[in-house]
This record gives sequence, C-alpha cells and structure tokens, in this order.
Amino acid sequence: MPDLEKPDRYAVMGYPVSHSKSPAIHQQFASQFKDNIDYLAIEVNPGEFTAAVNRFHANGGRGLNVTVPFKLEAYQLADIHTPLAQLAGAANTLRFRDDGKIEAHNTDGLGLARDLGRLLGVPLSDDAACEPRAAFAGKDILVLGAGGAVRGVLGPLLMQAPASLTIANRTLARAKELAWMFHVRACSYDSLAELSGRGFDLVINGTSASLQGQSLPLPAGLFSPHALAYDMMYADRPTPFIEWASRHGAGQISDGLGMLVEQAAESYFFWRGKHPDTAPVLENLRKRH
Ligand code: ATR
Repeated sequence: MPDLEKPDRYAVMGYPVSHSKSPAIHQQFASQFKDNIDYLAIEVNPGEFTAAVNRFHANGGRGLNVTVPFKLEAYQLADIHTPLAQLAGAANTLRFRDDGKIEAHNTDGLGLARDLGRLLGVPLSDDAACEPRAAFAGKDILVLGAGGAVRGVLGPLLMQAPASLTIANRTLARAKELAWMFHVRACSYDSLAELSGRGFDLVINGTSASLQGQSLPLPAGLFSPHALAYDMMYADRPTPFIEWASRHGAGQISDGLGMLVEQAAESYFFWRGKHPDTAPVLENLRKRH
C-alpha cells in the first residue's frame, strides 16, 4: 500500500540554484492535480553531482531536474536515455524507475518548441514528442549560439519542420559541428547579412551572452516583417538581445520564461504521466516578475 501521508520527492540540482523558480512551478503543477509532492532546490558543488544524485535516490527520491553545470554528467550517469536526451547529448530530467535504473530525458527543446508554438499561434499537441507536426511550416529560423543549450533544443525545433534552420555562432567551428550533426546551415555573425535575404521569421538567442549582459554583433535587416525574436534566457529586465531586437524591427519579442514553465511541465509528465496546465503558472510568474 502506498503511504498516503508521505509526499513523492523531487528536486532540482544545480550550481548555483538558490534562485530557481522550479520549486514554485512544480508545486503549482502538483496542486492542479492535488498531488502530494515535495520539491527542493539542492545546490551541489561541482565534482559532487553523482554522489548527490545517489544520495537523493537512496533516500526515496522519485525524480530530478538538472541544471547548469550538470546536464552532461546527468546524461552520463543514467542507465537509459530517451531519444530526446540522446539527440541533446545532455539531460535536464532524471527519473528513478521502480527497477532501480536511472532514466535520462531532455525536456528543454520540447519546452522551447511548445512556447514558440504558443507565441506563433500554432500550439503543439500533448503528443508533440511522438507525433511531430509542421508547426513551423514556412518559417525560416535563425539560432544564435552553438553551445550545450542550443544542442539541447535543435531536435524538437526540427521536428516541427521549419522551412530552414541556420545556426550562427562566434566560433564558426562549433556551429559547423552542430550543422553537420543536425543537417542544417552554419555561419558566422559576419556572414549573416548576406544570408538573411528576406529576413528570418524566428530568431532564437541560445548564447550565454545575455547572462553576461553582453550584446551580439548582429547585422540590421535580420528580421522578416512580424518576426519573433526569442531569448532563451529570462531576467527581470529585457536582455541586451531583446532590446536590440525591439530596436531592429522584430514584430514580437519574448524572453524564455515560457520555455522554463513548458520544460518543467514536460518533466512533470515524464515523472507522473500528467500534463499540467501551464498558462496560469506562467501568468503567476509574470505577475511576480
Ligand atoms: P551553454 O551550455 O549555456 O550553451 P556553452 O556551451 O559554454 O554554454 O555555450 C555558450 C554559447 O554562447 C556559445 O555559443 C558561445 O559562443 P562560442 O562558441 O563562440 O564561445 C556563446 N557566447 C557566450 N558569450 C558570448 C558573447 N559575448 N558573444 C557571442 N557569443 C557568446
């Protein structure tokens, strides 16, 4: 018989993690279903991740979210990997299965694709991971950056069948490596002006430049009319990329708060088989923002 009093234990591990919004998000999801869960933010020192995961597992933990800088380690320590984790080569979600095995998943890309679908007015179905559609049909997408964050989202973006996807990065070799893996186009920031043509419909900043308050050397004329500029980062104030995009003709702008909520919802589904309603949770976070 399950112990009805005892909450199911989850947590997010990262370094740093004290400002994480994940505990508040997951508690709101749980209250939608009257689920009894406990969700902590656990700060783990670099070098101590595997021990911390094993301890959490041994103490009855059911699942973990994993954030910077442990997504690669999380992938490596798992016994089983979902196809989305394999595509990303990194994991942001771990599930402790009844057979004792650790299963790794990556919900970042689906979270991003879902938030973009909402903003573009083409919401993705609950089965988006299994039944991809042409939600981004006809859209020319530009992704800025070629680090771990970008690799984590390319698969689910491509599953929505955009007309084209281009990766631009400061270090061209890293963009080329991803372009080779995912069969897309790579370029440097310098050559973007020649490539943009009639402009990109969707420009996604996946670099960590915003985190450091830095702007990117982007040319004018990047956006098609009504283009959406999206920063995967979120902050209390508009990021340098969002400010640049508003001044340079983006029709719509968004930070990555919606992606944060959507990737959390995908984790919740992975752990508990239920799809939370993300809209009221995002609205609450925006109010507190
Ligand atoms: P993450 O896991 O956040 O993706 P990462 O793998 O270190 O971290 O990648 C950071 C990304 O942001 C890279 O694409 C990086 O460009 P380089 O590959 O040339 O290093 C990009 N980036 C970080 N700071 C930047 C800046 N000031 N200008 C341009 N690109 C920047």
